Amino acid sequence: MTVTKKLPKDFAWGFATASYQIEGAVNEGGRGKTIWDTFSHTPGKVAKDDNGDVACDTYHRWNEDVQLLKNYGAKVYRFSIAWSRIIPLGGREDPINPEGIAWYNQFIDALLANGITPFVTLFHWDLPQALYDRYRGPLNTNEFAADFERYARVAFEAFGDRVRNWITFNEPEVFSTGGFANGVHAPGRTSDRSKSPEGDTATEPWRAGHSLLVAHAHAVKAYRADFKAKQGGQIGITLNGDWAEPFDDTAENVAAAQRKLEFNIGRFADPVYLSGDYPPSMRAQLGDRLPTFTKEESALLKGSSDFYGMNHYTTNYVWNRNEPPTLDDQLGNVLKGFISKDGEELGPPAESPWLRPCPWGFRKLLNWLWNRYQTPIYITENGCSVKGESDLGVEQAVHDTYRVNYFKGYLENLLLAVFDDGVQIRGYMAWSLLDNFEWADGYTCRFGVTYVDYKTLERTPKESGKFIKKFFEENVEA
Ligand code: NOJ
Repeated sequence: MTVTKKLPKDFAWGFATASYQIEGAVNEGGRGKTIWDTFSHTPGKVAKDDNGDVACDTYHRWNEDVQLLKNYGAKVYRFSIAWSRIIPLGGREDPINPEGIAWYNQFIDALLANGITPFVTLFHWDLPQALYDRYRGPLNTNEFAADFERYARVAFEAFGDRVRNWITFNEPEVFSTGGFANGVHAPGRTSDRSKSPEGDTATEPWRAGHSLLVAHAHAVKAYRADFKAKQGGQIGITLNGDWAEPFDDTAENVAAAQRKLEFNIGRFADPVYLSGDYPPSMRAQLGDRLPTFTKEESALLKGSSDFYGMNHYTTNYVWNRNEPPTLDDQLGNVLKGFISKDGEELGPPAESPWLRPCPWGFRKLLNWLWNRYQTPIYITENGCSVKGESDLGVEQAVHDTYRVNYFKGYLENLLLAVFDDGVQIRGYMAWSLLDNFEWADGYTCRFGVTYVDYKTLERTPKESGKFIKKFFEENVEA
């Protein structure tokens, strides 16, 4: 590494989690049911039929989490609010739950008392079940956007005097694809009629994603109009983005890789950061299956984020295929793979089948984002699971060399992107503070820099957590 410069003192580094993945206590404190409670309790949906009923029990052990963050030296912590703890039934006419507000208040206060700045995600996939029952949640754009705006306003009002960093939605691409196309996430809708009699992949994932964008735009408008001036915070959205590397340098494969980036990332980033509309390449492929924004929505969306929140994990090789598009193709997964034309493999597989380390892909993606959107970036998630880690006891699991190497490679590329390429990066949040409920993979894939014993719920720092602490101590100005 040639980089000798340091990141600025206010570089926002820390760790990330999400409510359903860590909180547990699903029937406590007046919390309403969510689509993930329903989905995880449906046999066969989650590995080993695991669920988030207890998870890391953060609802009761929040103080331990704050102490962990403090010990790691974290400057920031990204967590999400469970909508159904604040408004159990979710809707704009539904009652607010003071107990839910009080819980997050004490948590936020504890973070601040320990010098940790909160980054709060409003929606990390745990949609109130009542909104799904009433109108199928994001399949009804206007209802969903109105209910989300009210929820966001309640959160700004309750916490905005202390929370200055807001993220509306986490990974709308994964939420809409997993929940409404291939059905591997809640609410599990899919075009495979044997799995879901009502799903329609032709239009639903596009409608669901569209609704999240419109809801985002309205919540940001509300924040900017009624809260920002007095609270002085910033608001944005977090998008997932894996790098797409052309399989080789033929024009058709280079174009396919670009199309994949536009499908998976541009789908949400172009409306928000560029044009107020979907990328033309998406429209060309999907035609009127892709909803359209009204003029007002388009105008609201364009510029509706003060920063670019980016979750990044892996890279795929991409090539063109001259056959009718499959479901995967339509979702932008244009024949992805981990092996290049020359037989070169990306890094050794993680426990999660979709994840291979590829640090140079991170740098390329950061450059692609910066060139296209020119918006300062926070990396709101980055991390990996480790093959076989779940079979180890705590004594072995804490020696997570694979994960240390992953972070080392990615963080070095972050420095190169900042100092050699001039990409503006304001923060980095490792996924995750804790081993936790990894959605359809249940507890089989651990992403934590802290080991969680799911029987005793004891937390033990892994080497990767210590590595991150040391990395930022060395690379951030004192
Ligand atoms: C992104 C999601 O936001 C998070 O919830 C998930 O656990 C990680 N990816 C790892 O798959």
